[in-house]
Amino acid sequence: REAFFISHILIRWYDQNKRDLPWRETKDPYFIWLSEVILQQTRVAQGYDYYTRFTESFPTVASLAEAHEDEVLKLWQGLGYYSRARNLHAAAKMIVSDFDGVFPSIYKDILSLKGIGEYTAAAIGSFAFELPHAVVDGNVFRVLSRLFGIATPIDTTQGKKLFTDLANELLDQKHPGEHNQAIMEFGALQCVPVSPNCSICPLSDICLAYSQNKVTAYPVKQGK
Ligand code: ADE
Repeated sequence: REAFFISHILIRWYDQNKRDLPWRETKDPYFIWLSEVILQQTRVAQGYDYYTRFTESFPTVASLAEAHEDEVLKLWQGLGYYSRARNLHAAAKMIVSDFDGVFPSIYKDILSLKGIGEYTAAAIGSFAFELPHAVVDGNVFRVLSRLFGIATPIDTTQGKKLFTDLANELLDQKHPGEHNQAIMEFGALQCVPVSPNCSICPLSDICLAYSQNKVTAYPVKQGK
């Protein structure tokens, strides 16, 4: 099926089913960045309060850059993976020193910030600036592997490249932010890892895994 058809269905599903989350109400790249770093390895329900406290305590990149590391780590307490908080603080200082305090809007500049990898750069770039970079996270691996019946293991170099290329082909170039939110939310709420309710899925007609009755066989992991 054509990419625009799939993207259209995902975006329509998203409009009807999305959760109201505070970081979806903003185009501020700094707030979006905070939310994405908090949500790495943290559930939305838990991340919510941390996001609120961070944005209230440090409402701008400059205020975060000027804070003492102790203050940042204290707010982070309970989230774990403290390197995330240290990188956040270091990157805020980089934005002040290297980008005049203005959050960069070019993909490679965003990617150059401490602690920001391809997923986070694509998320910030697309949500804040509509840069056409597809996000590829666990949700996206699951949705695409099922939809196209792709058995290439996701934890291999080849798999990562294949799924990244496919995600970028599917990306709605006119609305990359909404498309990226839509496919992630679809993976989080509809195309879930265990016992997905395919009887109400708007993509079941064209889902290869569903047609083979093998939905939970995807995604394939090589393991070690
Ligand atoms: N997890 C990571 N990024 C997210 C987002 N933008 N919305 C909801 N959950 C997320």
